[in-house]
Parts: sequence; C-alpha cells; structure tokens
Amino acid sequence: MDRRKFTRLCSSLVAGASSLSLASRAAIAASENQSEAASDTAGVEVAGRKIRSTQLVFPNGAPVTADSLAEGTAYIFHFPFKSTPGFLIRLRSDARQTSDKSSPVTLTDKNGRSYQWAGGVGPGNAIVAFSAICTHKMSHPAKPVSHLNFRPEDKVYYDRQGQQQNGSQLIYCCSEHSVYDPFEGARVLSGPASQPLASIGLTIDKDDSLYADSLYGGDMLEQFVEKFGFRQAIEQNLTDPYETSGPTTSVVPADEFSAMQILC
Ligand code: FES
Repeated sequence: MDRRKFTRLCSSLVAGASSLSLASRAAIAASENQSEAASDTAGVEVAGRKIRSTQLVFPNGAPVTADSLAEGTAYIFHFPFKSTPGFLIRLRSDARQTSDKSSPVTLTDKNGRSYQWAGGVGPGNAIVAFSAICTHKMSHPAKPVSHLNFRPEDKVYYDRQGQQQNGSQLIYCCSEHSVYDPFEGARVLSGPASQPLASIGLTIDKDDSLYADSLYGGDMLEQFVEKFGFRQAIEQNLTDPYETSGPTTSVVPADEFSAMQILC
C-alpha cells in the first residue's frame, strides 16, 4: 500500500470511528421499532453512511437468484460495508422450515432489546442471511482462515445446559464453540455468544434477483470495524473500511472464500 493510500485509510478509520456511535444508535433504533419483521433500515445512516439496497451478484457479474444457490450451502458476501462479512445460506427445507411473516421468531440482543425475525425469502423461505461476525469475540470468515462455518451435516453439540443434542444446518464458531441456528434467526444454541448473529434483510425482485437491504438485531459493526477494519481494508484492497457495499456485492461460496476452514 502506498503512503498516500495508507494515510487516507488511517484518516477514514478515525473519521468513521468518531461518527459511528450516533449512526449505530440510528440502526439500533430502527431494529427496536420493528413491528412485524425486519423493519427496513435502508437509508438509515451507519457510521455516517446510508445503508442502501445492494444487489447480490456472482464474481462474473451474473445476478444471484434463488435457483442459482445450491441447497445446504453457505456463501460469503459483504454488507452493509465492504469490510463486514455476511452469510447467505440456502437451507435445505426438507427436514425443517424457517418461520414466515405470519409467525416471526422473537429474539433478544445482549442489551435485552427484542426484535423479530420473519424468516427467509424464496422457495420455502429457505434463503437467509446473517452478519458473519460471531457475537462472542467477533471471529469471522477471513481470506486465510475461517473459524465460523455453516455445517449442513448432522452433528452432535452440547447445549447451554450441557445436554447432548443433534443438529444439522447450523452455524458453528470453532473459536470457543458457539452454535447458532439459522432456521430461527441465528439464535444461540450453545457456547459463550452473547446474542444471535445480526440478521440481514433480503428481498427478491420481479426478475428473481436477490438484494440485501437492511440489517437488524444486535449488530457489532462498530466494534468489528474498530478492531478488524484496518486488516480487512488491506485484505480487500479498500481505502476506507466504512465504504458501503455499493450497487452490487460479490457472492462467493464460503469454502472458496477462505483458504482454510477450521471445523469443530
Ligand atoms: S469468537 Fe465465536 S465463540 Fe468465541
């Protein structure tokens, strides 16, 4: 990175950090006011930047549609900032169904604020998206390695009461063994995680193209960018870790995004 670029990056980090608190409050306020499902946080400012609707596309530019996603597979994209990773998952809906708008799941963030998750979109409401930032110590998928992974297969885990459970299609953080359930808004099933993964609202247009357009629940964007924004900016070749995702964001299979997946 040349010196001028490095200076711009440092300046933007400082500017972003100073303006983030107010903006995060705006996003949280939006999530507190949700009545039925994901209230639309598009247009809400986070870190002084407006969250805007972002089309999901493959690296070749082709739009992501429901049919183009493999069942039981997780993908990585970045939203609402180019530095903040998210999971896009098409769940297999043969064994379990996500909730829908008629029966949203009520979840609680670590501050005791409740919000509602209305399920996924597309066939069987099986397409879901969450912030891929573990709510314990912010483990996340990075290009060299990921400790936070979606596991489609049947697996044993131990719940918070220490009881052995079986589950499939769950999200595991192998840093300190938190487990999240993407069928129920990524609520915490096990481990030290303090709250569900933040939810990313998805919409599908008339051409079946998918868009990310809101973020709700207890997001950890402020802490994440403060702690990892500099490294993310270098890894993703960004001059500003608070740069919003833009009109499109690239969607990559999770097992291709990270060179190594730590499984537990
Ligand atoms: S960072 Fe995920 S469990 Fe600790």
